[in-house]
Amino acid sequence: MKVLVTGGSGFIGSAVALHLLGAGHEVVNLDRQTYAANPATEAELGKRPGYRLLAGDVADPAAVAAAFAQHRPEAVIHLAAESHVDRSIDGPMPFIATNVNGTAVLLEAARAYWNGLRDRDRFRLLHVSTDEVFGSLGAGGRFDEASPYRPNSPYAASKAAADHLARAWHATYGLPVVISNCSNNYGPRQFPEKLIPLMILNALAGRPLPIYGDGLQMRDWLHVEDHAAGLAALIERGRPGETYLLGGGGDIANLTVVRAVCDALDEVRPDGLGARRRLIRHVADRPGHDRRYAVDAGKMAVEIGWRPGVSFPEGLRRTVEWYLANEDWWGPLRAPWAERLGLAS
Ligand SMILES: NC(=O)c1ccc[n+]([C@@H]2O[C@H](COP(=O)([O-])OP(=O)(O)OC[C@H]3O[C@@H](n4cnc5c(N)ncnc54)[C@H](O)[C@@H]3O)[C@@H](O)[C@H]2O)c1
Repeated sequence: MKVLVTGGSGFIGSAVALHLLGAGHEVVNLDRQTYAANPATEAELGKRPGYRLLAGDVADPAAVAAAFAQHRPEAVIHLAAESHVDRSIDGPMPFIATNVNGTAVLLEAARAYWNGLRDRDRFRLLHVSTDEVFGSLGAGGRFDEASPYRPNSPYAASKAAADHLARAWHATYGLPVVISNCSNNYGPRQFPEKLIPLMILNALAGRPLPIYGDGLQMRDWLHVEDHAAGLAALIERGRPGETYLLGGGGDIANLTVVRAVCDALDEVRPDGLGARRRLIRHVADRPGHDRRYAVDAGKMAVEIGWRPGVSFPEGLRRTVEWYLANEDWWGPLRAPWAERLGLAS
């Protein structure tokens, strides 16, 4: 298959591209190369046969139309997005431009292209979204495909808007759209503003490990390679017009995650000054911080035959080892993550 991936230079997009290339598919990556696109990731992808980068904005109708016309993909996996909640609090407009307008532009270009296809039934557009669109859970229960939308951050609201557009383009125009909503991802090549790589790199440098509020916010964690495998299965077996939820099957408190990062690092690279848990500091909570997310991924298991394969302890150990072995990847990045973002409310 030839797959147009948007946002393929980012954290999840690069895992998706590597997964598809490994399975013998061709990948055309439309990516604007924002701060979240690490040149080292692009260098790695660029060596792989069957891969091609189109540096362009998903919100630019001409660039997106040209990507369809010149490359004639059989499927699209749409991941391009502004993705960091704290940045969306300080400056929401880029989230509207890329996540909302960009999705609308992509859907319109896909519709025009799909209308001209001879074999319209085979085409799929997979819109990749997050469980954050459903808002916060109480102490019990899990999100499923029938959960109501209740986004609480500008990021989550922009993704919710994009989900609604994707759904409407199927219902109104018949475009074969599939929607996925996934829990928190972790793994290699994640920009170090996100919780797990931020904690790994801060702990490695002996810097404080800031925990928002009491740290008892619960999150469901999925290894990025499991997510990539699920998305690859969805472009083959997902039913148009359907939504599928993906998650790791457990929910873990942020504080527990950070302690686990400290312990994993202590094991593989001990710090002469003592256990790294000593670096944990509680700081002001994120405004609008959701308390709990948990995902019921039963539909993915029953209908698609997908289940997560990497347990959290195993995935975390592998992630810590990846950051230790790949300083070339994160070393050249300036350290904007050292500053606290997301207090602008
Ligand atoms: N990270 C998670 O835990 C998670 C969980 C569920 C869903 N998602 C969704 O998965 C997708 C990918 O997330 P990620 O964590 O890999 O994000 P990321 O920030 O690591 O990567 C985003 C990529 O999109 C590109 N991009 C940004 N704006 C663009 C534009 N206007 N045009 C073209 N490319 C643009 C960036 O250059 C970057 O390569 C997003 O849609 C996100 O909402 C993420």
